[in-house]
Amino acid sequence: MANPSILILAGDGIGPEVMAEVKKIIGWFGDKRGIAFDVTEDLVGGSAYDVHGTPLTDETMAKAQAADAVLLGAVGGPKYDVLDFSVKPERGLLRLRKEMDLFSNLRPAQCFDALADFSSLKKEVVAGLDIMIVRELTSGVYFGEPRGIFPDNEGGRVGVNTQRYTTDEIRRVARSAFELARRRGNKVCSMEKANVMESGILWREEVQWVHDNEYPDVELSHMYADAGAMQLVRWPKQFDVIVTDNLFGDLLSDCAAMLTGSLGMLPSASLGAPTESGRPKALYEPVHGSAPDIAGQGKANPIACILSFAMALRYSFDLGEEASRVERAVEAVLADGARTADLMGPEGGVPVSTAGMGDLIVQALDASL
Ligand code: NAD
Ligand code: IPM
Ligand code: MN
Repeated sequence: MANPSILILAGDGIGPEVMAEVKKIIGWFGDKRGIAFDVTEDLVGGSAYDVHGTPLTDETMAKAQAADAVLLGAVGGPKYDVLDFSVKPERGLLRLRKEMDLFSNLRPAQCFDALADFSSLKKEVVAGLDIMIVRELTSGVYFGEPRGIFPDNEGGRVGVNTQRYTTDEIRRVARSAFELARRRGNKVCSMEKANVMESGILWREEVQWVHDNEYPDVELSHMYADAGAMQLVRWPKQFDVIVTDNLFGDLLSDCAAMLTGSLGMLPSASLGAPTESGRPKALYEPVHGSAPDIAGQGKANPIACILSFAMALRYSFDLGEEASRVERAVEAVLADGARTADLMGPEGGVPVSTAGMGDLIVQALDASL
């Protein structure tokens, strides 16, 4: 049987730097565990625009559709700010999400013990934190029509985006949140703004419907998203699974990232419906962006990208034990004090580069055998 296939789209800025470390881990699994993947690489974002004049070619889109999993680094950067909106690097990523129908974006925020002191919040607030944000990823204001910049009636202009959700779109992401909750702490908190938005009222009603009809055993609560943001910082351990829309999920997950110490720590999995193979369509990427301020300096933390690969092992390849092995290796390296620049606080640590961190994680994997 052919090896499972992975398409790597490293992208821009620190994307290729952190992805180089993931490739070491993929290589390790082939060499040391006999778990080999057929890896192909292609361009996305600004790097694709530079070569093809588009942030994602149809050929690359087809490869992504055909791959068992896609790993993406990051897209974007100041060089591309001047481009027309339709060819901005971010459009490539959004097209992948939309056309692969990756409606459920899992963004776990876990605080490793070794970093509990490093969070901007008090240690007792974050120590042992383990929450999962499920962000709807293919609809809402990111994709709703009408959208655009139009002339208004007074000689000025009007910028329009539309927040729009259907019953089916809400129900399917709610189901994925309830399924996850059953395998975790059995609690879901749904966040919207039902106090000011009709789409929020529908969101709340449909999540409640899925609960009452299909998952009555899971504890469900509702919160307005602004209050949810406050609670996430006040006492994040009250949450298990949070389910929310595309835009609120974007904001809340960056906020949750800082609970764990750094944006450089937060992985994600974007999943669609199961395909004939039984695997969901899937794309794995760190939550962070291309970090132009540190790109090319060997400073980027590769852990978010490495943990995204661990999520691929768990959710695409049914290798949960091997995913845990990677997570434990990361934990061990952090416990030994290794720190990329973003994790270096007053309490110090052993400074390591992007490549140094990757090498240490490979060594910790060796030690796990
Ligand atoms: P960013 O996530 O790139 O950076 C925010 C801050 O976090 C920066 O100070 C950066 O140095 C730091 N940071 C991020 N990742 C890090 C890592 N792995 N290690 C150490 N430090 C890290 O967000 P931004 O600056 O708002 O956006 C920059 C570009 O990235 C923009 O073009 C944006 O659209 C794009 N972006 C892409 C993605 C993606 O590809 N999924 C996500 C977010 C932003
Ligand atoms: C993310 C990013 C993206 C988003 C951008 C780059 C399109 O911020 O993945 O969190 O807004 O979804
Ligand atoms: Mn974001």
